Amino acid sequence: MPTTQACDTCHRTTAWKPATFNHAGVAPGSCATCHNGSTATGKTATHVPTTQACDACHRTTAWKPATFNHASVAPGSCATCHNGTTATGKTAAHVPTTLACDSCHRTTAWKPATFSHTSVAPGSCATCHNGTTATGKTAAHVPTTLACDSCHRTTAWKPATFSHTSVVPGSCATCHNGTTATGKSASHFVTTRSCDACHSTTKWIPATTYSHLSPFYKQHGSKVACAGCHTNKNEQLAWPFPAYKPDCAGCHASKFKPGPHTKVDSPKLLYTVAELKDCAGSCHIYKNNTFTTISKQRTGEHRATSGGF
Ligand code: HEC
Ligand code: HEC
Ligand code: HEC
Ligand code: HEC
Ligand code: HEC
Ligand code: HEC
Ligand code: HEC
Ligand code: HEC
Ligand code: HEC
Ligand code: HEC
Ligand code: HEC
Repeated sequence: MPTTQACDTCHRTTAWKPATFNHAGVAPGSCATCHNGSTATGKTATHVPTTQACDACHRTTAWKPATFNHASVAPGSCATCHNGTTATGKTAAHVPTTLACDSCHRTTAWKPATFSHTSVAPGSCATCHNGTTATGKTAAHVPTTLACDSCHRTTAWKPATFSHTSVVPGSCATCHNGTTATGKSASHFVTTRSCDACHSTTKWIPATTYSHLSPFYKQHGSKVACAGCHTNKNEQLAWPFPAYKPDCAGCHASKFKPGPHTKVDSPKLLYTVAELKDCAGSCHIYKNNTFTTISKQRTGEHRATSGGF
């Protein structure tokens, strides 16, 4: 060993071996003059690849633990050491990525990782955001199989911007149940029909005009509000005159004026509301009460869209 120090800095008087080296006067950065594998212990075959002085990472009292100084590490070169052999590598459950470690990690600690989404491919979010690798959907999440980024940005989960583009017509209530997404208020019109029978996806108010299914509905034009007929705010109509349902008189019996509805001129006989309940032109005037000869045939039955009786 090349040394100018006194023999007894390293040797006891009883035997030359083992020698105990005293590092007291050793100049920083000079370690490799001895620690070259022949003079004194050198780097192992699997050693971290580095040309730095031993004391950039090692103290003189023990090789382990090594404290790695990342000062002169080139950005993006992390994986040359951090491959799981030379130095700590990715864990088995690691976020799947081929990016350089330092796009997410600092050199001082692996946690917390700061994920940079810059090179993330659109639509690929769920490869990581599955609840294991990275944050996934919550249990109460909007039921959807769409890619996360159809509703979320990469900077924050909230607020989500919901896109209805691929929503299946008639499926609205799967989300719009008051929990997952806005639902009907307590005072909402009682109906079992799908939201989109009355609403667009852009705003709830005003509701778009409803197209009736029931043949009992008589088109009245837009002047009559839903509540005009649906006085109970329910699709199960409370017919004012149920005996005449589903005819016009089912709602309008109280408006029937017998006077103009002559059935027989002489002796004078008037129609009843029951006979004319459908307001359709069967309102003939007969010559006499044998009802065989029609003296006058009236046309022009009342029309719900004409504006008046
Ligand atoms: C800086 C520490 C250091 C100093 C100073 C030092 N030696 Fe050594 N010497 C060693 C080491 C290390 C070994 C190798 C011991 C081993 O193989 O276990 C060694 C080995 C030896 C051996 C060979 C022992 C053998 O059986 O192989 C002799 C002899 C020896 N030294 C003599 C001296 C003499 C004489 C001096 C003073 C003039 C001296 N040394 C100074 C560290 C030192
Ligand atoms: C003059 C030669 C010499 C220089 C310079 C030198 N060492 Fe040593 N060092 C030795 C010898 C000899 C030993 C004991 C034998 C061995 O472990 O190879 C030793 C042992 C060690 C050990 C093992 C200690 C133990 O108890 O396990 C460490 C760690 C070490 N040196 C680190 C360093 C560092 C760091 C430097 C630079 C600051 C350094 N050495 C500079 C000669 C030297
Ligand atoms: C860039 C940092 C760094 C530098 C520079 C460095 N080492 Fe290391 N060395 C390490 C790390 C990290 C380990 C592994 C430590 C562990 O397993 O805890 C290590 C392990 C070792 C070990 C094996 C310890 C064991 O018991 O497994 C030896 C011996 C060693 N280094 C010697 C050297 C020598 C000699 C030099 C200088 C010529 C050197 N190292 C330079 C980081 C470094
Ligand atoms: C020359 C090899 C080498 C390079 C290049 C390298 N490291 Fe390291 N790094 C180490 C060694 C050795 C350790 C300590 C042993 C270990 O943790 O495996 C370490 C430790 C770490 C630690 C743990 C720190 C702690 O205190 O827990 C982090 C984090 C780290 N490195 C990040 C990075 C990042 C990020 C890069 C790229 C910018 C990088 N390293 C480049 C060798 C290297
Ligand atoms: C795309 C971002 C990203 C990249 C690139 C990346 N990581 Fe990670 N890494 C993470 C995230 C996120 C975690 C989890 C952090 C947490 O649990 O807080 C993690 C965790 C780790 C952990 C476990 C920390 C612990 O204590 O549980 C290690 C080790 C690690 N990464 C090493 C690496 C290495 C080595 C590389 C490069 C080869 C790398 N990572 C590349 C994002 C990344
Ligand atoms: C390579 C894996 C990966 C991919 C792909 C990915 N992310 Fe991430 N994302 C992460 C990691 C890791 C984090 C940080 C840890 C966490 O929040 O789980 C994160 C965090 C987030 C956060 C939380 C941000 C914050 O600061 O709170 C949002 C939002 C996010 N990602 C959205 C997305 C979206 C949208 C996509 C698809 C365009 C996407 N991510 C693709 C890994 C990924
Ligand atoms: C169809 C749109 C849509 C899709 C697709 C979607 N989300 Fe969401 N997500 C939402 C809405 C809406 C919220 C509620 C936002 C709010 O409360 O402001 C939400 C909330 C979240 C939250 C909770 C945020 C918090 O802090 O409460 C997380 C986490 C989340 N989504 C993750 C995901 C992940 C991961 C994916 C992909 C696998 C995904 N989402 C796909 C619409 C969507
Ligand atoms: C996959 C879940 C989902 C489905 C299916 C769905 N929506 Fe939505 N919708 C949302 C979310 C999430 C929002 C935003 C949060 C909220 O308003 O509750 C939203 C918002 C709305 C809004 C409010 C828009 C605004 O900007 O004020 C309307 C209106 C709407 N939806 C109508 C519909 C209609 C109509 C359908 C059926 C064709 C439908 N939605 C199907 C999830 C859904
Ligand atoms: C048969 C028609 C119809 C159906 C089906 C319907 N709505 Fe409505 N909704 C209305 C009418 C009418 C209004 C009052 C609109 C106005 O004032 O312009 C309304 C108002 C609303 C409003 C705003 C006022 C309030 O009550 O909070 C919301 C929110 C709403 N509806 C949600 C829904 C949801 C969610 C569904 C499906 C689960 C649904 N609606 C189904 C007719 C309907
Ligand atoms: C001129 C009277 C009238 C008006 C105005 C009216 N409805 Fe109706 N509606 C009916 C009748 C009659 C029925 C069938 C009731 C029955 O079968 O007992 C009905 C049935 C319904 C039903 C059950 C499903 C169907 O289509 O048969 C819904 C839902 C409904 N109406 C919603 C509305 C809404 C929403 C409005 C306002 C946009 C509205 N209605 C306006 C008379 C009306
Ligand atoms: C489900 C109840 C309902 C039925 C059935 C119904 N209507 Fe109506 N109708 C209304 C309501 C409500 C209005 C508006 C309020 C009012 O004038 O009583 C109205 C208004 C009218 C008007 C305008 C009245 C005016 O004074 O301006 C005419 C005309 C009319 N209906 C004709 C008919 C005819 C003809 C039929 C049968 C073919 C019919 N309605 C069936 C509920 C009904």
